[in-house]
Amino acid sequence: MAKIIVVTSGKGGVGKTTSAAAIATGLALRGQKTVVIDFDVGLRNLDLIMGCERRVVYDLVNVIQGEAGLNQALIRDKRVDNLHILPASQTRDKDALTNEGVEQIFKALSEDFDFIICDSPAGIERGAQLAMYFADEAIVVTNPEVSSVRDSDRMLGLLASKTRRAEQNEEPIKEHLMVTRYNPSRVDSGDMLNLDDIREILAIDLIGVIPESEAVLRASNQGVPVTHDSDSDAGLAYTDAVSRLLGEDLPLRLYGGQKKGLLSRMFGGTRR
Ligand SMILES: Nc1ncnc2c1ncn2[C@@H]1O[C@H](COP(=O)(O)OP(=O)(O)O)[C@@H](O)[C@H]1O
Ligand SMILES: [Mg+2]
Repeated sequence: MAKIIVVTSGKGGVGKTTSAAAIATGLALRGQKTVVIDFDVGLRNLDLIMGCERRVVYDLVNVIQGEAGLNQALIRDKRVDNLHILPASQTRDKDALTNEGVEQIFKALSEDFDFIICDSPAGIERGAQLAMYFADEAIVVTNPEVSSVRDSDRMLGLLASKTRRAEQNEEPIKEHLMVTRYNPSRVDSGDMLNLDDIREILAIDLIGVIPESEAVLRASNQGVPVTHDSDSDAGLAYTDAVSRLLGEDLPLRLYGGQKKGLLSRMFGGTRR
């Protein structure tokens, strides 16, 4: 049985797609059979970040509407063996996604994969609701800004009420906080919230802190998820997050800052 993890946020542009691609890649590099699904119908960013945009023939909506089989739509990653991508369509109607259709896809994928990573659109539109509905775990992506943190708090409310686990009174979705675009000097100058403030407001387990990094821009321009850039600050931070997702108890390390790419600061134990 695959574990279904949704990567979500209240606001757009916080780093969900970057994170979904990086985490899926990191899990596959650790030997986990992983598929990453783009639920952002209309935008279609994931295939660009994964560098497989020219190979897209069929997509999530084609599969749901019975126009293609799952195997026709799944794209095998060209760098990592056990990684697949299920792209979204660029042009289609967002209402084409149905609850039953998505459930069937998850059922079929569950038999073959260890992890199903869902890249969600922002907010509460249909694609976002469906991406989270069947999830076992959620990674809530947040920037260190008041508006982003507030919107994430709203997402936590939805995760606790509008999901299958909530409706069927099952064990709640496991929620993880991922802080992205973290810039230590802007935190020090008070322009951005610090980690303690964010954790106090959201009060969920911190799975990773990804620095604001040029490596992310480079990676997305090249269509190579930043996890492959194992010397980069952001690549290291995502690799740590993947280890935590796999249950390892790693101390929280902040990468980046003054000494680019180096472990600049380390603070006590695992405060999660
Ligand atoms: N850690 C980071 N450092 C620098 N830029 C980032 C970082 N994470 C994301 N970005 C940039 O922010 C923009 C939005 O990221 P994206 O992953 O598409 O967000 P979302 O999927 O939440 O809309 C992109 O241009 C991306 O390259
Ligand atoms: Mg996105």
